[in-house]
Amino acid sequence: MDLKQLISKNANKIQPDVISSFNSQVAGIKDLIPLTLGEPDFNTPEHIKEAAVQAIRRNESHYTDPQGIPELREAATSYVHDKYGLDYDPKTEVLATAGVSEALLCTFLAIIDPGDEVIIPTPGFPVYEGSVTVPGGKPVFIDTSDNGFKLDPNKLKQVLDEHGDSVKALVLNYPSNPTGVTYNEAELRALADVIKDYDVLVISDEIYSELTYDHNHFSFARLLPDQTITYNGLSKSHAMTGWRVGLVFAKPAILSEIFKMHMFASFSITTNAQYAAVEALNNGRNDAQPMKKVYEERRDLVASGLKAVGLDSPKPEGAFYIFASLPESYKNDSMKFCIDLANEAHVGVVPGVGFGPGGENSFRISYAASTESLKEAVKRIQEFVKNHE
Ligand SMILES: Cc1ncc(COP(=O)(O)O)c(C=O)c1O
Repeated sequence: MDLKQLISKNANKIQPDVISSFNSQVAGIKDLIPLTLGEPDFNTPEHIKEAAVQAIRRNESHYTDPQGIPELREAATSYVHDKYGLDYDPKTEVLATAGVSEALLCTFLAIIDPGDEVIIPTPGFPVYEGSVTVPGGKPVFIDTSDNGFKLDPNKLKQVLDEHGDSVKALVLNYPSNPTGVTYNEAELRALADVIKDYDVLVISDEIYSELTYDHNHFSFARLLPDQTITYNGLSKSHAMTGWRVGLVFAKPAILSEIFKMHMFASFSITTNAQYAAVEALNNGRNDAQPMKKVYEERRDLVASGLKAVGLDSPKPEGAFYIFASLPESYKNDSMKFCIDLANEAHVGVVPGVGFGPGGENSFRISYAASTESLKEAVKRIQEFVKNHE
């Protein structure tokens, strides 16, 4: 029997995501400096770990309220209120998920009928394309590479008009993975001015909000609260990727449907992680600050090191990625560049082509690694580029 025949057409359409597959491809190379994953190199702050330990000792080891324990929902809504001026009801407008990853898939399962379209600005985080495709949705990419990797409101309007009623949602992710660019309030207002006239949802993935360097993060839901679904979590702000805590905020009519999907996907998230998250959101509100300072220094170190050998990038204003252009000799072949760099210089970076249209002439370097490793990696990249002029 050909077991492949039993797999759904939608599942068959999806390719494994380039970040993990490229990471596995190069992981075995001796002395490799891996700058592939979006994984903070900091440890989770002690007070947060302690809260989880205490929860385990109290035998908090059962299923919880599937929406999240009430303390977590209170802590989450109060956190986004105080930090970003958002008003969500802890009873009906927030849900705790196993990372933003689960929240995204549950959202698309809840909103997409086969054939519905979702606008995804690219280069973008590959999970959006996969999660839209699972329920039969069609990604509509807008290449932003000719506009400093930012979505241009006029182009958005044009695509919305061309695609009409088939468009269900638009993805916004800022600060962005992979480009590190973000939007300021005026730029978001210009986008909102367009979106307000269309019946579309905004999937606003703000997981890197605490890692915004030059100005305060501005949440899109402040502009279009009814249409916006806001995603945040503790993975990046509190160096808690492995705890799997994501948060999704939306109006009750939408949140209740995402919640239904979550009940099938994971029911409730890990109990001790929820108590850890309560501690992080209530008493660790500025935990990201010292990390951000270090990331900023590393960003400058990497960006200037790359620029010195002609590898330009848009100014990385947030997250912990630089999306740098390829050297002339590798023009538009980011896969070959990354394979050669890994084999010859022993530095792992991700080919831009894996982030969708507009990424083929770039590579993503994650600077969430030790300063020592980054210095050595920059030196190796510089030598590699000089050897391939
Ligand atoms: C833009 C973006 N959204 C969502 C996620 C998923 O995060 P989580 O750990 O909360 O599932 C990531 C992780 O790298 C990301 O970069």
